[in-house]
Amino acid sequence: MRIIIDTDPAMGTLGGDPEDSFAIMLALNSPEVTVEGITVVQGNVPAEKGYSNAHHLLSLLGRQDVPLRRGCLRPMNAQRTTQITFLEQRYATEQITPMLEPKGADADAVSFLIDTVLSSPGEITLVTIGPLTNVATAIQQAPEFASALKNIVMMGGTAECAGNIAPAAEFNYWQDPDAADIVFRSGADLTMVGLDVCHQTHLYPSQVEECARHGTPLGQFVQASSAPWFQIMGGASGSGSLHLYDSLAMAVAMDTSLVTLEDSYVEMEVGAGPAQGMSVSYHKPFQRMIFNRPDINAKVALEVEVDRFTQLFRDRVLGLMSGE
Ligand code: RIB
Ligand code: CA
Repeated sequence: MRIIIDTDPAMGTLGGDPEDSFAIMLALNSPEVTVEGITVVQGNVPAEKGYSNAHHLLSLLGRQDVPLRRGCLRPMNAQRTTQITFLEQRYATEQITPMLEPKGADADAVSFLIDTVLSSPGEITLVTIGPLTNVATAIQQAPEFASALKNIVMMGGTAECAGNIAPAAEFNYWQDPDAADIVFRSGADLTMVGLDVCHQTHLYPSQVEECARHGTPLGQFVQASSAPWFQIMGGASGSGSLHLYDSLAMAVAMDTSLVTLEDSYVEMEVGAGPAQGMSVSYHKPFQRMIFNRPDINAKVALEVEVDRFTQLFRDRVLGLMSGE
């Protein structure tokens, strides 16, 4: 399968969420997947940092052949001041990968998305593991973009459970609710891999430490980059573990049988109130009937075969980090 990964990778920024980079490793170490490109978006960290982090990861993996592009630097709506403040505060965080400035077309992820998808209609799966700003901008700029995609598999939202960044909202959609709204209205074939299933996955610090003990540059980079986030989030969750949100979405893009999917109509709360960024999922037919939402615009994941995912992650990501 041919995929583009749209991502906000923070592995390389201390105190940032390292998790996108595990998903990138999973894709690049999966023989059934061809990664046509990686497009970076604002999110966990500013896209300037995310681009530099992705570049460093590709060098460590010896995969500089994979096209890498930097995209949107801010959410679509300049009035989203809470989100913009969250993002801009992250310019001050310590960077352990060298900062790189993209040259020429490398700074235009949106054109890369449009050109790649339109030149292979019906063939490209877009796996989005960050906010949807690049994707929504591509949809706005090229009306035929959404229908030319094979499908979009998104890490984002919640179907039935509470949020993570806010009581009602998951981070990727919250960070750019207007973009998520455009994507849900786009007519593209959408699969939403939300917190309902992602929260059942776990990565423990001991697993990363064990990989680093093998002494590979990749394993040591991952451990150094991830340690602060394990302290912040592992401590907060009480289990010490991180959730493998983005890796699960990547795995579902490769094998949908890992999750149970339900047809749904999903709409975004784009108001400015406390529920902004909430994904409201009408996957129960009686709710679509009562609230007059007869259409289906997405499939939402409600259950996951977590042991099968964990084994895949062990073989293809932890194995790669250990140099096996
Ligand atoms: O809410 C989970 C999402 O935000 C994931 O994409 C992860 O990278 C986090 O920062
Ligand atoms: Ca992410």
